[in-house]
Amino acid sequence: MSIYGEHRERLESFSQRLMKLIEDYREEKKKETGMDPVEHCLCRIKSDESMREKCRRKGYIEDHHSALERIHDAVGIRVVCPFISDVYAIRDHLLSTEGIISRDEKDYIRHAKPNGYRSLHLILYCEDNSLGLEGYYAEVQLRTISMDTWAALEHHLKYKKDVQGNTELIVKELKRCADELASTDVSMQTIRDMILGESLS
Ligand code: GTP
Ligand code: MG
Repeated sequence: MSIYGEHRERLESFSQRLMKLIEDYREEKKKETGMDPVEHCLCRIKSDESMREKCRRKGYIEDHHSALERIHDAVGIRVVCPFISDVYAIRDHLLSTEGIISRDEKDYIRHAKPNGYRSLHLILYCEDNSLGLEGYYAEVQLRTISMDTWAALEHHLKYKKDVQGNTELIVKELKRCADELASTDVSMQTIRDMILGESLS
């Protein structure tokens, strides 16, 4: 039996609804500016196994209440954007949608994690009382291509137990790369704004 029980299908349709919102926004912006604000977008329902593991790790009972109401990333969406301004524009678009409420926001772009991790994390909530719950949560991670590349490499390091060599130096170098990429993201944004400014004038 799935930890999500009868809610599994509702979770699926909530995630599809969020994906459609992003896709529609993308099409609208492409028509308007000729530029795609999304490089790629991924969506997943956390597997039964990972959700059960997360419940145990947090000391919660392994049931649908913990999985859907205490843990907020049963639905996970990652939106990777060319530019920083796209990240915030998509955030604003999602939050301006009727029926979708922001329950939490962590801006690791303005306030990077000490290891250099950058992304904008939103916890979105959508009311749905069809199956006795009040609603469903989704975690949306928004980041630029550079931030995504960095996070993939860092994730690999974190979960690779047998990393060879000087871990301390690797961590320090990763942090340096994160900061350099962040500065390049700002420069790229400036260039984009200049190009867009010229095409409008
Ligand atoms: P949870 O209880 O696990 O939800 O923790 P949290 O809410 O404190 O997590 P946070 O919002 O900081 O991060 C949630 C997700 O963001 C993680 O599951 C990762 O996918 C991603 N993430 C956060 N920090 C890092 C990091 O340092 N490196 C990488 N690669 N990913 C990170
Ligand atoms: Mg979280």
